[in-house]
Amino acid sequence: MHCYPANLYHRKTAPYDKIEFDALYAQSIQDPAGFWAEQSKKLAWFQPWEQVFEGSFEKGDISWFRGGKLNACYNCVDRHVEKHGDEKALLWEGNTPRESSSLSYSELYLAVCQLANALKSRGVTKGDRVCIYMPMIMEAAIAMLACARIGAVHSVVFGGFSSDALANRITDADCKCIITADETERGTKKIPLKKNVDEALKHCCDVHTVIVVNQSQKSTETWNDDRDHDYYTLVSQQPTCCPCEEMDAEDPLFILYTSGSTGKPKGILHTNAGYLLYSMVSFQTVFDYQPGEVYWCTADIGWITGHSYVVYGPLANRATSVIFAGVPNYPDMSRYWQIVDKYQVNIFYTAPTALRTLMAAGDEPVKSTWRTSLRCLGSVGEPINPEVWEWYFHVIGNGHCPIMDTWWQTETGGFLITPIAGITNLKPGSATLPFFGIQPTLVEGELYIEASWPGQMRSIYNDHQRFITTYLSQVKNKYCTGDGAHQDDDGYYWLTGRVDDVIKVSGHRVGSAEVESALVDDHRVAEAAVVSIPHAIKGESIYAFVILKQNQIPTDTLKSALKDQIKKEIGAFAVPEHIQFANDLPKTRSGKIMRRLLRKIANGDDDLGDISTLADPDIIHTLIQNKL
Ligand code: WT7
Repeated sequence: MHCYPANLYHRKTAPYDKIEFDALYAQSIQDPAGFWAEQSKKLAWFQPWEQVFEGSFEKGDISWFRGGKLNACYNCVDRHVEKHGDEKALLWEGNTPRESSSLSYSELYLAVCQLANALKSRGVTKGDRVCIYMPMIMEAAIAMLACARIGAVHSVVFGGFSSDALANRITDADCKCIITADETERGTKKIPLKKNVDEALKHCCDVHTVIVVNQSQKSTETWNDDRDHDYYTLVSQQPTCCPCEEMDAEDPLFILYTSGSTGKPKGILHTNAGYLLYSMVSFQTVFDYQPGEVYWCTADIGWITGHSYVVYGPLANRATSVIFAGVPNYPDMSRYWQIVDKYQVNIFYTAPTALRTLMAAGDEPVKSTWRTSLRCLGSVGEPINPEVWEWYFHVIGNGHCPIMDTWWQTETGGFLITPIAGITNLKPGSATLPFFGIQPTLVEGELYIEASWPGQMRSIYNDHQRFITTYLSQVKNKYCTGDGAHQDDDGYYWLTGRVDDVIKVSGHRVGSAEVESALVDDHRVAEAAVVSIPHAIKGESIYAFVILKQNQIPTDTLKSALKDQIKKEIGAFAVPEHIQFANDLPKTRSGKIMRRLLRKIANGDDDLGDISTLADPDIIHTLIQNKL
């Protein structure tokens, strides 16, 4: 296995060398309280904390920086304004190269204050949940920060979710206010966000305010004068000053829904101080971010990467963060690299699925750009295939940018296993070593974490018991990641994917139970089982086995109807690659579907192992014969 050295670029101000770094890591494990107490000085506090950490995994009560008071928006915006107000906070690039804009820290401050006042004028106060259903526009980041400023808890819902999925999330978090946009274009696709909100709100009668960024300037037919407000009309009437709410360290900052192994998505809850500190420190350390550098993460703000590493982490460090509304292959395959040249991006962070799409198009679209500004690259969302890693390294980075393969989860708030730019030697395909304060441990090939870290989720909204059961009770006193992993002789970690019923389609997390539940919602379907199969571009894709009710005829029309049903209940990204109609599914004698076997059948793996516990082994042969 080829290993790449850490010192690929000249470090202007190296805070530590490898030996000092290792000593710091050792301290973070031996004396986490001392370590994080020191790190906490990087935040601005209204009132100092009293206790670094307390709590227990058993009870699921985790508290960092008890007694401290601060505001996340203050830390991301206000404190930079006085001395560095003219520096760029956000650079925005639209769907086409013709649309772009920027916001300095001073401009961001004004925009956030006005929206915060607008929210207040609509009765939103500390602790209220606000749903953000937006495309990748500046106003999305502004909305998150405006919520943080007044202590409202944002719940960002990815724009690719359907109106049904949106309605479920609005209801679960009991949001009464929604911030959205009328319609957006991604590549050649139009996404009717406001229309989806209107549809969702037929089922959520408590919502009293919808604030709409009018992008397309088309009048919306279903405008509801009592409820709907044009974003800029509302905001322009507001005072430009809005004090920051003093938040307790453990007050909720946001909820972000993600999929688990049941049909019901989990509202992952993060709190103010620990989350902000962890995203801030991990961003700076891992990318070795230097003042003045331009950083671009391609993730959508609807996912945790967009929260921690488009908005909170970078802005807390006074970085310049690029927001891109488009897609990698529109107008052409050079789009990403043209943007890198246009903004002279130094740090570029993306997902393996995007890289695979681009790699398949060959080197030409890359070679037509310079990319000389790049210093550091990143990858996230799923394991990166070594050959894609090599391409990223040699072709995109010209062989002189280290690649940070960052392993983490919505639940972890920030990077847990990751290289450190300038410090960690790299192996293509390995997320390498744990970050400060993180003690991984392998239990029967599954990855657990020994002790709490500041960015750890604190609860599942409205379901604290599910938090304890899912994450903290699988193995006593350890956090359960749900990922498989192994460690090599150098101690490097190799993540192998989920061990539960979560599927990563193009890096998007989908629960097999959610897809199954959408399938059985069709009145013709009796039962469904969904597994993942490898996909050259998406990483994984979905393979569904469907049993129809008696007298129902398996047709292609029915297949498309089922796909539409999934689009309607979840979103287009969750639509299966294959739907195989079956008469029966392999079950244990107690009636449990044997997914392990279905996974093998869908993957064309003939070595089915022990099938003696099956109620009816014959079913298997029929399934194999009919495999798609
Ligand atoms: C799951 C978490 C973390 C932000 C984006 C996804 C997989 C994530 C890597 C990586 C291998 C990875 C894991 C994890 N994953 N990054 N670098 N190498 N696998 O967040 O939607 O909560 O998904 O993504 O399976 O558990 P998420």
